[in-house]
Amino acid sequence: MHIILTGGTDGIGFSAVKQFLKMGHSLHLTYRSINKLKKLHSFIESKNLGKLVFFYKCDISEPDNINYFVSELSKKKIAFDCLINNAGVILFKKSFNSRGLEKVFAINHLGSFYLTKLLLEKKLIHANGKIINVGSSAHQKS
Ligand SMILES: NC(=O)c1ccc[n+]([C@@H]2O[C@H](COP(=O)([O-])OP(=O)(O)OC[C@H]3O[C@@H](n4cnc5c(N)ncnc54)[C@H](OP(=O)(O)O)[C@@H]3O)[C@@H](O)[C@H]2O)c1
Repeated sequence: MHIILTGGTDGIGFSAVKQFLKMGHSLHLTYRSINKLKKLHSFIESKNLGKLVFFYKCDISEPDNINYFVSELSKKKIAFDCLINNAGVILFKKSFNSRGLEKVFAINHLGSFYLTKLLLEKKLIHANGKIINVGSSAHQKS
């Protein structure tokens, strides 16, 4: 399968990447922090799996970054089988993206929604493809 996964450089995303690679899937991953990317990259190189993985610098809170990510994906001429919207954060200090939107909302909700919308509009996801949104039960506490 050809899988798009956001936030594959750490945590749950990183664990998922390892499993998907063991299963032989091809992965298209976003990254933001170069240090986290290096950690993932060394794992991939140590397993000689470089041909299966593609990296795209993309801050999911920034619509322009998402536009660029999608334009790069469209150049691959692939009907992707799966999109996993995994990137997510908890921020304890209020901050805003370049358009003045609060970042947790922009990352955990708007970014994933916008990415999904663009991929569907451009028909980059296979007709029988799957879209998985990684969520949290944290909202039940508010
Ligand atoms: N771990 C839990 O117990 C738990 C519980 C409930 C829900 N979740 C959900 O599970 C998902 C993964 O959580 P996790 O615990 O694995 O988190 P994590 O260890 O902090 O990893 C988050 C990943 O998302 C990326 N990311 C963060 N901000 C981003 C941005 N603006 N643009 C693009 N990528 C970004 C991070 O890379 P960079 O820092 O380089 O951007 C990292 O690869 C999230 O959606 C989270 O809400 C986790």
